[in-house]
Order: sequence, then C-alpha cells, then structure tokens
Amino acid sequence: MCFTLKKILVIYYTQTGQARLALDAVLKPFLGNPEYKVDFELIRPKKQLPYPWKYSEFFDVFPENVHGIPFDFEPLTIDINTDYDLVIIGYQPWFLSICRPVNSFLLSDVAKKLLNGKPVITIINCRNMWLGAQEKMKRCLLDLNSKLVGNIVFADRSSNLTSLVTVLAFELKGVKQNFMGMFPRYGVSDKDLEAAPQIGKLIETALKQNNFDKLQDLIVAKDFVTVKPNLLLMEGRGRALFPLYANYVSKKGTAGSEERKGRVRTFGIVLPTAILILSPIITIVSRLAPLIAYAKIKRQVHYYQQNSLK
Ligand SMILES: Cc1cc2nc3c(=O)[nH]c(=O)nc-3n(C[C@H](O)[C@H](O)[C@H](O)COP(=O)(O)O)c2cc1C
Repeated sequence: MCFTLKKILVIYYTQTGQARLALDAVLKPFLGNPEYKVDFELIRPKKQLPYPWKYSEFFDVFPENVHGIPFDFEPLTIDINTDYDLVIIGYQPWFLSICRPVNSFLLSDVAKKLLNGKPVITIINCRNMWLGAQEKMKRCLLDLNSKLVGNIVFADRSSNLTSLVTVLAFELKGVKQNFMGMFPRYGVSDKDLEAAPQIGKLIETALKQNNFDKLQDLIVAKDFVTVKPNLLLMEGRGRALFPLYANYVSKKGTAGSEERKGRVRTFGIVLPTAILILSPIITIVSRLAPLIAYAKIKRQVHYYQQNSLK
C-alpha cells in the first residue's frame, strides 16, 4: 500500500518517568506503525536536577520557575531541519508554571525553528493543578507561531489533601506508593493509561484528515481535561500570589544562595500549610459557588478546557 510517511516530534521532560508513561499510552496507535515516524526527544538540562529532592532544593526552584527563567540544556539529538507534521509536548507544571526544562526549550532558538507553523498537542502529567502552566504554554506557542490543537491531562486521581501528602512523599522521599502504609500510589493512574490509546486514535484520525478542529472537544468528551471548580478557585489564589512571593525570595539572592534560604524555608512551610487549611474551605465554597455563580464557573471550566488564550 502507498502512503505518505507522517513525522511526529515528541518533546518532553520527565524526572521519574511519569510523563513517558502518559506519552507512550497516548501514542500507542503510532508506535511500530510504518505510516508514522515518531521521534522522542528528552530535554536534558546541562545541570542535572536532583531526585528525590532535598526539601530546600525543591522549594528553591520556585522563584526561577515562576519567573520562567531559562537554563541551558544539552543539544537535541534529532535533525532540527526535519519538517514535522505534528509536535507533541509532554510536560509537568511546577509551582503552577511550566517546568523549567520545557520552558527553557520553548524559549530557545531551536524551538522557534521546530515549532514554527506546526500543530501542537500538549500532554500534561501532574498532581492536579495545571491551569496556570497551560495558560503560559498557550502564550509561548502563540509566540512561536504554532497552533495548539489539543491538550490532554493526566492528573493524580486522589483528593487534593491526599495528593498533597503523596506528591511530597514522591518528590522528597522517592516513595511512590503505600506511604506510611496507608496512602495510595501517586501519579498517573492505570485507568487513564488504559484509556489513553483511544485519544491516540482520535489524534491519528485528525492527523490523517489534516483537520484538528474537533479534536479538543473529543478529548474533553473522553474526560481527559477535567477542571474541578474547587481546584480552579484554589489555583487562582496561588497564581495571584506566587509571582509576588517569587519576587520577594529573588530579591534576597540567586538560586541556591545562602542569603535567600530563610525565605525559601518559610515558603516551604507556608505553602503546604495553606493548602491544608484552604483546601476544605475552598471545597465548601466551590460547592456553594455553582448555586450563586453557576454561569461564571461553567464559563471558566469551559475556557480552561479549550485551547485559545484570553
Ligand atoms: C518542583 C516541582 C513542583 C511541582 N509543582 C506542581 C504543581 O504546581 N502542580 C501540580 O499539579 N503538580 C506539581 N508537581 C508534580 C509534577 O507535576 C509531576 O507529578 C511530577 O513531577 C512527576 O512527573 P515526572 O515523573 O514526569 O517528572 C511538581 C513537581 C515538582 C518536582
């Protein structure tokens, strides 16, 4: 049979392999299929990031990550002159912003070359708060003259308070499951991984027809872009306050410096405590909010599920 080979670039970052699980699951219909050439490219920071993180290291990346300051990464291994038919970006939100390795790529000259005029699909893996990061992603992609045609989200399925504990155990201790003998496994769920090839099939149909217009609605219908009103409200608070606190820390010193350690430590205590206290309150407010502001919440949920930028 005669067909034109379609080329897909998958640019991603992962520390523990969660992103790669999500990417492989979505891309299952493409892998090993002779009609497609899929190039995976892992962003490799020049300075290796720690895992598991020390408490101080974890919270010290906050200011530069929120401010979107790029760092150097190793040269890509692909041929950057390849004319890809589709680009997929696999990334994690870090402190409600795009994780620094992927953000560094997006701000690079090589991204300008590879993404110019291309349809792009983002695949996010996270605890549960990705809205702010994706808004920044939308901005970056517009600046790169590429078109965001799909967004797929793999969020941890536990409650906000449970995943607050399990994500910290995962990031700071490297414990993925059964923390303290009672907490559930952290990360992308098996149920989502099993369902993900269906999304891959939708992408394949869109790519074959060279028409991505309906893709995002189909992804939403498959429940792969859940926006929960309580998290929407909570993240809104964080997005307003984070840049202010990031400035406050940065003013004291540069990344890793002794001078800013006090402010970083305070942030490391205040953030989990605030989530702990605010989570139940915001959950109650968000249950009441639809009664008072149903149309507004519905509008916001719809906005974050689609790909244009306000
Ligand atoms: C520094 C840092 C900050 C994070 N901030 C967030 C966040 O704001 N929202 C969220 O949902 N998850 C957050 N996470 C969790 C990640 O999104 C993700 O679950 C984790 O990094 C595992 O993905 P990986 O194995 O692909 O690297 C954060 C993780 C790190 C390391």
